[in-house]
Amino acid sequence: MAGLKVKNLTKRFADFAALSDVSLDVADGEFVAVLGPSGCGKTTLLRMVAGFEQPDDGEITIGGKVMSGAGINVQPENRKVGIVFQNYALWPHMNVAENVGYSLRVAKVDKATREKRVEEALALVNLQGFGERRPANLSGGQRQRVALARCLVAAPSLVLFDEPLANLDVHLRAAMEDEFAAFHKRTGTTIVYITHDQAEAMALADRIAVLDHGRLMQFATPRMLYEEPANEMVASFIAQGMVLPAEILSAAQDGACRVRILGQEAVLRCRPDEIARADAKVCVRAGDLEVVEMGGIPIRVKRSIYRGGGSRIEASPAERPDIELHFDLPDPARLEEGTQARLAIRTGWVIPRAEGAVR
Ligand SMILES: Nc1ncnc2c1ncn2[C@@H]1O[C@H](COP(=O)(O)OP(=O)(O)OP(=O)(O)O)[C@@H](O)[C@H]1O
Ligand SMILES: [Mg+2]
Repeated sequence: MAGLKVKNLTKRFADFAALSDVSLDVADGEFVAVLGPSGCGKTTLLRMVAGFEQPDDGEITIGGKVMSGAGINVQPENRKVGIVFQNYALWPHMNVAENVGYSLRVAKVDKATREKRVEEALALVNLQGFGERRPANLSGGQRQRVALARCLVAAPSLVLFDEPLANLDVHLRAAMEDEFAAFHKRTGTTIVYITHDQAEAMALADRIAVLDHGRLMQFATPRMLYEEPANEMVASFIAQGMVLPAEILSAAQDGACRVRILGQEAVLRCRPDEIARADAKVCVRAGDLEVVEMGGIPIRVKRSIYRGGGSRIEASPAERPDIELHFDLPDPARLEEGTQARLAIRTGWVIPRAEGAVR
């Protein structure tokens, strides 16, 4: 087990900065997810931690030992880092035990030790007794677990996952998420887990690092990312937050301020150092909006999508057709396309001013 420290990491491909000045501190035994849009630099970060790429700037420390840095580049095989990729290529001509034990055989570990460690690794992923099977005779989830066992057999101090569930169907994904959570609990291994899937990241991770265009946007617990996004990118990226222009009418008091949004006053959560200002942005989510009979923001419904038990309504303020709002309307209430209605904002979060927004 080992913690991971990434300090001011920068990676350029020609003059394109794939990662810029990224710093992360992953505690020993922590489960950290890395989340961000396609091309934001997730795999590049992972490849540098594993030692497949050398950073242009910055430092990577694993278990207190500098692995990448000025004049230092520890080879991947000496980093004690295990990796599980999305495309978990198993050798089809070898059975499960041979696949899992391959690296030990290459390292000339004797047969008895090898068999013992393969058995232990298979037990860690709940595949006891599967050693004789061929990969072709396994389900997708079982194959993924063999890939995990193959990585674990080398007793890594840090395990990196790059979208390990991306190829699996919804049910299998859910089952594998449970397996990963159980595996983490059982072993206490430090895990860095890349995913596109927010729900997966929220369910599994102690903390989530959100990347965008090679920069770290926020590194916080799932709840903090949801409730207190540090900037507009995180606000809109996590759970489809709506970012709206607002005027802050009063400085923060007891963690809240009075704001005017689209002509309506509301009380929103905010940082304790928030001040009155005209140029603010706020984040509200579907659940923060409520249809009211009187008052509220006049809206026009653009689309109603039936979701079972209720509908997702997409609308715009009557005065601001350029702004998109969405909220959920439980059955039996209906709002058809073109209908007018009124919306109250029950709560939300004032997005902090730009300086010092990233933490
Ligand atoms: N070897 C390379 N040469 C040039 N550009 C590269 C190289 N590897 C990655 N890039 C670029 O760096 C950026 C980040 O790539 P990366 O693979 O880290 O993204 P990602 O966040 O993992 O995306 P995805 O979610 O699609 O897997 C992309 O714009 C990519 O095209
Ligand atoms: Mg990737």
